[in-house]
Amino acid sequence: MNFQAPKGVSEYLPPRGALFDEVREAFAESARRACYGRVETAVFEETSLFVRGVGESSDVVRKEMYSFNDRGGREITLRPEFTAGVLRAVLEHNLHRGALPVKVFTSGPAFRYERPQAGRYRQFYQFDLEAIGTEDPAVDAETIAVAWDAYAALGLSRLTLLLNSLGDKQCRPVYREALQKFLRALDLDADTRERIEINPLRVLDDKRPEVREQTRNAPVMTDYLCADCKAHHDAVRGLLGGLGIPFTDAPRLVRGLDYYTRTTYEFDHALLGAQSGIGGGGRYDGLSEEIGGPPLPGIGFAVGLDRTVLAIEAERAGADTAAAAGCQVYGVSLGDDAHADVLTLITALRRAGLRADMAFGTRGLKGAMKAADRSGADFAVLIGADERSNGIVRLKDLKTGDQQDVAAAAVTGWLLERLGTK
Ligand code: HAM
Repeated sequence: MNFQAPKGVSEYLPPRGALFDEVREAFAESARRACYGRVETAVFEETSLFVRGVGESSDVVRKEMYSFNDRGGREITLRPEFTAGVLRAVLEHNLHRGALPVKVFTSGPAFRYERPQAGRYRQFYQFDLEAIGTEDPAVDAETIAVAWDAYAALGLSRLTLLLNSLGDKQCRPVYREALQKFLRALDLDADTRERIEINPLRVLDDKRPEVREQTRNAPVMTDYLCADCKAHHDAVRGLLGGLGIPFTDAPRLVRGLDYYTRTTYEFDHALLGAQSGIGGGGRYDGLSEEIGGPPLPGIGFAVGLDRTVLAIEAERAGADTAAAAGCQVYGVSLGDDAHADVLTLITALRRAGLRADMAFGTRGLKGAMKAADRSGADFAVLIGADERSNGIVRLKDLKTGDQQDVAAAAVTGWLLERLGTK
């Protein structure tokens, strides 16, 4: 075969796909418990939604979008993130005219033309959650708690929550100017100088030591917050304390998308190296107006599912990460006549809630038993001519090798008794 996946596409195959599912489900479950509702929105949108929503000064819009003209000449972009599209859908379908906040979650692929490396892909997966229509700082804390509890349910412990406030349209411009003034006086390369004029906050995010060194004493937003933003920020910090969620104040935390206001946060994982951000989010109180909607504050986060999978693998190093999703029972037919009986039995076991598979194809008893071992199942069920005529099945414990016959009518109960609680 001459084909490979395009460069930078993140793919999952068994058994790793089970871990991917586990991660997505942990976040969905945490969101459902907080009464967020599932949405599915467009994978591609009008390009201008992202240009106006995510922002012209962001790297995402400037360099990373998968944009094309469709056959009708429309300018289309594959979503580089979910927030703009989710808000577009909420506004389009008038959910914001009902009870507020509108609380929704979704997940799926997103696309950014980035330089691929470990943990950074061009097609990657996010779980995204948004609470739209309230400025209440309690909802800021709620979104963080939903993410925090999902990470905890997945057993992740090497996690740091970084918290910052980016101010609002009153205080941010004042800060921006002060920062620009500071940065313009530094000895920086042409690209960085250009960035000072377009998106000065991003300069604080520069990882190069020579830039870091120079920006060490740069002014930070938290020192410029107006009274309302400061009160909001203090409230969020207090609420997180009350929820027992530890956080680190990160006054230099800058997010890569232009729509953020006030609360911003990131979840960093200690074992992932350069791509350590496994999730991030914040408020976007001006986004609705930016895309032509009414004033409507909002907050949310997106988790990088790929990076969360990598974080789990790093923390569980050596452990069998997908054991929980393995097969429990494996059916083997001795002779063609019994094949249909095995399929019937296996189907009955599945309907009773067990994970069951069987040997397909004609590979003989030896090959079938090898497949049974390889499946990781706890028991093999064997049916041949003798078993059929006697109304029994043979059960083999694949861990101990013990065998015993059980009446065909009783086998589901027998297996459920031993495996049903797993
Ligand atoms: P973001 O920080 O751009 O925020 O992305 C969120 C997460 O997606 C990151 O923390 C990272 O784990 C993952 N991610 C981003 N780019 C890549 C990539 N190229 N490869 C692998 N993983 C990646 C947003 O997207 C916002 N929409 C979050 C949000 C929701 N803010 C408010 N509501």
